[in-house]
Amino acid sequence: MSATVSDTDLAAAVDALRAGQLVAFPTETVYGLGANARDPVAVARLYAAKGRPADHPVIVHIGSVEDLPLWARDIPPAARALAARFWPGPLTLVLKRATGVRDAITGGQDTVAVRCPAHPVALRLLAAARAAGIDGIVAPSANRFGRISPTTAAHVREELGDAVAVVLDGGPCAVGIESTIVDVSAAEPRVLRPGMLTAQDIADCLGSALGHADAAAPRVSGALPAHYAPRTPLVLLAGGDCANHVHQRLAAGERVAVLAGTGLVQSLGAHAGLRTLSAAPDADGYARALYANLRELDAAGCALIVVEAPPPGAAWRGIADRLQRAAQGHSLPPA
Ligand code: TXA
Ligand code: MG
Repeated sequence: MSATVSDTDLAAAVDALRAGQLVAFPTETVYGLGANARDPVAVARLYAAKGRPADHPVIVHIGSVEDLPLWARDIPPAARALAARFWPGPLTLVLKRATGVRDAITGGQDTVAVRCPAHPVALRLLAAARAAGIDGIVAPSANRFGRISPTTAAHVREELGDAVAVVLDGGPCAVGIESTIVDVSAAEPRVLRPGMLTAQDIADCLGSALGHADAAAPRVSGALPAHYAPRTPLVLLAGGDCANHVHQRLAAGERVAVLAGTGLVQSLGAHAGLRTLSAAPDADGYARALYANLRELDAAGCALIVVEAPPPGAAWRGIADRLQRAAQGHSLPPA
């Protein structure tokens, strides 16, 4: 996969970052829209390209845990343990910010979010940027604010096109949903955004229970109720309700898109107004394909996307979170 990114491409990306421009790059979770974290003009450009409100902080990406003190102060043992165990990987840590870390990337808070991604292209970019004097790359997911995160280079080009100087194509992302965010800035570590690395994985590593996120928790924009949303209204229904509802809508002459397990998809059969995608039975496979599936169904010209609710269980927590946010604001239309 990383073979598709040449050293020339990489050098062009570093040049662009040095010039204050934006660079999209693959991570193992989703594609990021990167800017030099120390360059306020570049960061402003990043927020403008995404259409992101200024008070929503971004994640600083670093190539090595050794660079963590450049961004964070008072690094607690829990942070050290989590970084040692899970970096590079789909984990973001929220820590007290080091002096000199700008309000523009923290949303004015005294904390900063940092992560070391596991994708080989991301790590090559971070190392090359570091060698050129750029010690951190801020990178929100490379989508317009509130929309579905991109998991391929093509998704990035469709959505942000002209705003990006260089798009590094590292193939489809392996994890598929955004990193798990853990706040280690307070006494009790707590999960602010669930991901494929589960709360249990975090607790096992720390050997202690986690705290609960509360109103005083730092702001997480992925935690806004409506987020990760397709344009087509989306409803989340349990298996049997799913089939009933789909049949009602089809009978009413509407076009309906469905993301469901193979069993339900097969039982729905073929219908001129029906567009189906089968979801993987395992959480890893489901997450990997989730955003590409939602994009495809969003583009199918249907009145409604019906998603079969995923099974309960810790492994599905991050997926359920993203689906609930995608469904937010879309109540079931009267059948
Ligand atoms: O997997 C990921 O984390 C991807 C890839 C590109 O690394 N990035 C990503 O970035 O999802 P973004 O900007 O879409 O989401 C960053 C999240 C937001 O929910 C933001 O509120 C939260 O991180 N965040 C950033 N700084 C924070 C802070 N100081 N305290 C609490 N949350 C913070
Ligand atoms: Mg995002």
